[in-house]
Amino acid sequence: MKISVIGLGKLGACSAACFAAKGHQVIGVDINQSFVDAINSGKAPFVEPQLQETITSAKGRLSATTDFSEALNETDITMLIVPTPSRPDGNFSDDYLQDALGLLARAFKTSNKSYHLFVITSTVTPGTTEKNLIPLIEKISGKKLNKDFGVCYNPEFIALGSVVKDFLNPDILLIGESDKRAGDMLAESYKNVCESNPYYARMSIISAEIAKISLNSFITLKISFANTLARICEAVPDSNIDDITKALGADRRISPFYLKGGLSYGGPCFPRDNRAFAAFASNYGIETELAATTDRVNSSNIKHVAEKIIGILEKSNCSRIAVLGLSYKRDTCVIEESPATKLIDELLKKKKIEITVYDPLAIETVRAVYGEKLHYAESIRECLDGVSLGIVTTQAKELKSIDSSCIGNSITIIDCWRQLDPARLGPKVKYLALGRWQ
Ligand SMILES: NC(=O)c1ccc[n+]([C@@H]2O[C@H](COP(=O)([O-])OP(=O)(O)OC[C@H]3O[C@@H](n4cnc5c(N)ncnc54)[C@H](O)[C@@H]3O)[C@@H](O)[C@H]2O)c1
Repeated sequence: MKISVIGLGKLGACSAACFAAKGHQVIGVDINQSFVDAINSGKAPFVEPQLQETITSAKGRLSATTDFSEALNETDITMLIVPTPSRPDGNFSDDYLQDALGLLARAFKTSNKSYHLFVITSTVTPGTTEKNLIPLIEKISGKKLNKDFGVCYNPEFIALGSVVKDFLNPDILLIGESDKRAGDMLAESYKNVCESNPYYARMSIISAEIAKISLNSFITLKISFANTLARICEAVPDSNIDDITKALGADRRISPFYLKGGLSYGGPCFPRDNRAFAAFASNYGIETELAATTDRVNSSNIKHVAEKIIGILEKSNCSRIAVLGLSYKRDTCVIEESPATKLIDELLKKKKIEITVYDPLAIETVRAVYGEKLHYAESIRECLDGVSLGIVTTQAKELKSIDSSCIGNSITIIDCWRQLDPARLGPKVKYLALGRWQ
């Protein structure tokens, strides 16, 4: 089957590479010429684990272009993976989807194809595909849904830093279909692509749109519950957050994932998908207090950690701190809604504190945003040098290795994920683990 992928960004480039590596002929399309050029020269357009290897193993099956009509005419299925930025009211904008679909539909109008499948992968506000996108294709192309073309809504459940692995090993393949033919065709395209044995969740387009944001909203609720437990454990002598969540996670009704208890969630999906869930429900007159509360709990965790830091600095009469880990999670340079940057914003707002930062991947992204407001270190040791407090905010492998060789002076270290070994930190360190009674 020939597949075109519109949008070669963080999700699109990985999806295109995976389909091609598994044997499909794939044409990628992007308005960003440098991404197109990178793919055509066999290079990953950005850093993402396993992306380069996957592009290489796709051999000659992956190419890219800026020409939408080539993508439409040369392939059977077109997947749209373009941005859907959040609007101020929490709903997603579908402007980029409409732009891309407009160009595809124009090409479709003059093509002599008997059938084409359009697949929306971008996250959308439920209702978007049927209210806006299908009518747009019909209007511009003059063709009819479920006769000349089919439409599926097929979001991916991936995390940056493990996009390729997540894409190839999903628990579920969520397929919202305009009719059985469309769903069958999409399901067939995933045959021999997934290395796991996913549950094919096939349903109406609107149900799939609701399922996508509900899933992420539910995960944020779960994370926030674990973070609340961590806050409780900090206040209760002899309690241990990790023992408690291990027990909870062993119950199949709960499961152990996203139940660690630590710093807030962040990134380009969870916060906005949870807010979109609330916005979508309120479009139908339903108030979702759960989603709003999750959002509030998540923000209050950052305030709690900021107050803890300020309290320690006031007691020691110091004002220099180190923030180690800036991306929203390990193995990515993305800092969108990252807990570390939210914490930095909170600290810069509340008190004149000097902050030195370090991250294995995200330092330049942060420099571009904060400029001279922060100091930038090139190593963990340099970041911790001369500061009275250091906070470790992500589970990056390099940060887990912090030990006495990184420490030059007396310092308090706050370990948000309880990943450091206090015995290896040496006598100069006062070790504080988030989620543990101190
Ligand atoms: N990144 C994630 O973790 C993730 C996870 C699940 C879902 N999603 C969803 O996938 C969608 C894309 O996210 P992303 O992170 O890959 O975005 P991104 O910003 O990394 O990439 C989007 C790409 O689309 C291109 N583009 C924009 N307009 C275009 C157009 N009209 N025609 C062709 N290309 C165009 C951009 O140049 C860019 O390369 C969003 O709806 C997002 O919510 C992302």
